[in-house]
Amino acid sequence: MDGKILICDPVDKVIIDKLKDRFQISYQPEITRDELLSIIKDYDAVVVRSRTKIDMDIINEGKKLRIIARAGIGVDNIDTDYAEAKNIKIVYAPGSSTESVVELTLAMMIIAARQLVNGIENTKKNDFKKLKGYELSGKTLGILGYGRIGHSIADVAKVLNMKLIAYDPMPVQYQDFVKKVTLEELLKQSDFISINVTLRNGSGYILNEGELSLLKKGVIIVNTSRANAINVMDVVKYLKDGTIGYLISDVFWHEPAKEDYEFEILKMDNVLVTPHLGAQSYEAQKRIAIMTADNIMKEW
Ligand code: MLT
Repeated sequence: MDGKILICDPVDKVIIDKLKDRFQISYQPEITRDELLSIIKDYDAVVVRSRTKIDMDIINEGKKLRIIARAGIGVDNIDTDYAEAKNIKIVYAPGSSTESVVELTLAMMIIAARQLVNGIENTKKNDFKKLKGYELSGKTLGILGYGRIGHSIADVAKVLNMKLIAYDPMPVQYQDFVKKVTLEELLKQSDFISINVTLRNGSGYILNEGELSLLKKGVIIVNTSRANAINVMDVVKYLKDGTIGYLISDVFWHEPAKEDYEFEILKMDNVLVTPHLGAQSYEAQKRIAIMTADNIMKEW
């Protein structure tokens, strides 16, 4: 065997099939932080999703660690700078969940715009009162974070006849039907905003009081990337006064919520939260597992 790999979060079993002839695999999808701290010294590589945090203490205990693999896209749960300073390679699975995240984003926009959650909850109580919503067609969608997922959202939203604007702090290519704008323009002009950013461990919030104050009244914000894109303390006021018509988010500041202000947000009528389902499709999970295994073997 070439080495020992610890898988810390639920990952499609195809990852084991691909690695087991070469490596000794331990699959512990519910491992606690304390357990991880006590056994990490025995492993050459560790595979995580977003539940398990790989911070300095874990890295220090992982004396044999040579690879940290993120079975997914966001590496904000890993202290990448510290790991790299210790010559530990970081691998991840870019592009593997794009279709799933894009489909969820579009579904969330329609769910919020057409009041589908209220409508469904009402009919369960035999209340057939007609609720009125908005079409996506003709509205401006601001795509905040314009990587692979942002590009694909634009492709689909174009078919729905949305006007498309996008902002990314990095130099990226824009499709010809998407207008490149500043963050300020995006916030002022968008009827819908899709947040698709990647954050690193320790990145600050992107939308603080100053940015939130620029939002168009009634905007529907869909966040399928990271809750920390939005300042949790600043957002409450804009949710309460209806500046944000709906916040529909697949991510939360703590998952599950811990703080009183998080419980307050969860209960608001104009907030809908799903439990980090973006990459949770059978297809995406399989692609992620295969790509993660391949990347581990490439980097070994
Ligand atoms: C990701 O960054 O890929 C997501 O957080 C998906 C996940 O691990 O559930």
